[in-house]
Amino acid sequence: MRIEEFDVLVVGAGLSGLRAGLELSTKWNTAVISKVFPVRSHSGAAQGGINATLGNLEEGKGDTPKGHAFDTVKGSDYLADQDIVMFMCEEAPKIVVEFESMGAPFSRLDSGLIAQRPFGGAGFPRTCYAGDRTGHALLHTLNEQSIHNGLNFFDEYFLVDLFKAGGRIAGLIALDIAKGELVSFRAPYVILATGGFGRIFKFSTNAVINTGDGVGAAFRAGIPMQDVEFVQFHPTTLFGTNILITEGARGEGGYLFNNKNHRFMEKTAPKAMELAPRDIVARSIETEIIEERGFENSYVHLDLTHLGAERIKERLPGIREISISFAGIDPIDEPIPVQPGQHYSMGGIGTKFDGIYGETDLPGLYTIGECSCLSVHGANRLGGNSLLETAVFGRYIGRKLLKKGLPNKPSLSEIQIAEEKAINNIERLFKSWSENTGKKPVEIRNEMGETLNRNVGVYRTDKDLKKATTTLPRLQKEFLNTQVSTEDRRFNYGLIRTLELRSMLDIAEATSYASLWRKESRGAHFRIDYPTRNDDKYLVHTMIYRVKDGLEIKTKPVKLGIFEIKERKY
Ligand code: FUM
Repeated sequence: MRIEEFDVLVVGAGLSGLRAGLELSTKWNTAVISKVFPVRSHSGAAQGGINATLGNLEEGKGDTPKGHAFDTVKGSDYLADQDIVMFMCEEAPKIVVEFESMGAPFSRLDSGLIAQRPFGGAGFPRTCYAGDRTGHALLHTLNEQSIHNGLNFFDEYFLVDLFKAGGRIAGLIALDIAKGELVSFRAPYVILATGGFGRIFKFSTNAVINTGDGVGAAFRAGIPMQDVEFVQFHPTTLFGTNILITEGARGEGGYLFNNKNHRFMEKTAPKAMELAPRDIVARSIETEIIEERGFENSYVHLDLTHLGAERIKERLPGIREISISFAGIDPIDEPIPVQPGQHYSMGGIGTKFDGIYGETDLPGLYTIGECSCLSVHGANRLGGNSLLETAVFGRYIGRKLLKKGLPNKPSLSEIQIAEEKAINNIERLFKSWSENTGKKPVEIRNEMGETLNRNVGVYRTDKDLKKATTTLPRLQKEFLNTQVSTEDRRFNYGLIRTLELRSMLDIAEATSYASLWRKESRGAHFRIDYPTRNDDKYLVHTMIYRVKDGLEIKTKPVKLGIFEIKERKY
């Protein structure tokens, strides 16, 4: 077996992973392991921007990190931990300036300052952007810096399992996709930055790679999932393909219309209108569709025609291209058909705080970015805070670990025993998959996606959630008998999809289970049968564990702070 040894392993080469790796590689032997080449990571699909209180626009004067934190906590429906939110918002201007100094091609105002646009739920226009391809611009910037810094990359390596020794993380087993061989990566620190897992739903803005490999690996190692009932449905995804149509389109002044030519946001958010937070806009659109004021029972119109050709071409060129290519519609002349679609996961790998944000119950194992639940977004994330989170906590974790120093490693024999056990488990799994005669992984995956879409969507009920919580354990059982050829492992994407499904099923099951447990409505989690927020009982984080005969929920208090809990109005 091939063995690689490093001081620290970062899994995932999106913005979180690259920023952490960049910091750590200044002093330590650091490897970034990714199932795709870094610039194919899903961070590159982020369109609208990154929030920071720069106050570069006249209307933005007076904006402060505290104001940003207030909007974030209110947007989160008070479930975000207020200390970490404050930290992120204070770091935001510094992180944007750092990107600028690395050469990130931000859009500019005539004055030469970084341009900013309004985004949902924000009191001031604070979203910095690079046209409507902000994630792409930032990802390429960090990739250049990482190459320049000599960061070690293992591209097209798939994380299979973690292993522990001496009561701490000791490394991970990955599949070299091209060669088809299992490789042991040893390190005393592992940072999971594997991104979102929206592909557990059938329809999502997420890339096909967003399958929760890090969340699944951590869960199998005994780390709980936190707050996974909070799934963000982006209000405006393109009807038919669910490709993201950025919130920036509404930030630039786009309107939403139903089939009565009515700007219906007036009913649910009379002040903020189209720039209410995503949970509210998504529900408003869904209601219009359910109550037959949508088009073809499926979508509403996002109208940009009044913005004019020049502005659309300059600020929203990607949106125009997507609309023309995938819907045959030029937004300069016609409205874009949009509907809500899964977009982001507020929950993820459960974390605790013993001095460092992002630490887990397993010493040496850390997590950042969308795969983690650091609890900066609570029950609903504001647009523009995701890119921010990636870079802030990537840099943060790197600095914190360098300061902490390298720990004593477990003995070599302990590591070898753990490694061998992990490899044997995987080989047993591969063997059983190649001998089984049950359903194909794709059949199980399709049913999982459809189950979530139908039963764990924008509006949820006890009856639907119970369907999901019965179907998913059945699919888990069927998965034990799934079949895939593992004989030739080189570029065996059948095998990769099956490994992905192993994690996806756990996340899907936990998501439906926690959604059924939470008998209230908060942020993106809306229960028709419990339509109000219940702070007395549910102002808590959910922590989900695998137990012998299923799943178990424990709770953890929310860290409150200076922002008083109130009803959300926009
Ligand atoms: O709408 C968007 O551009 C998405 C931004 C985000 O998820 O933060």
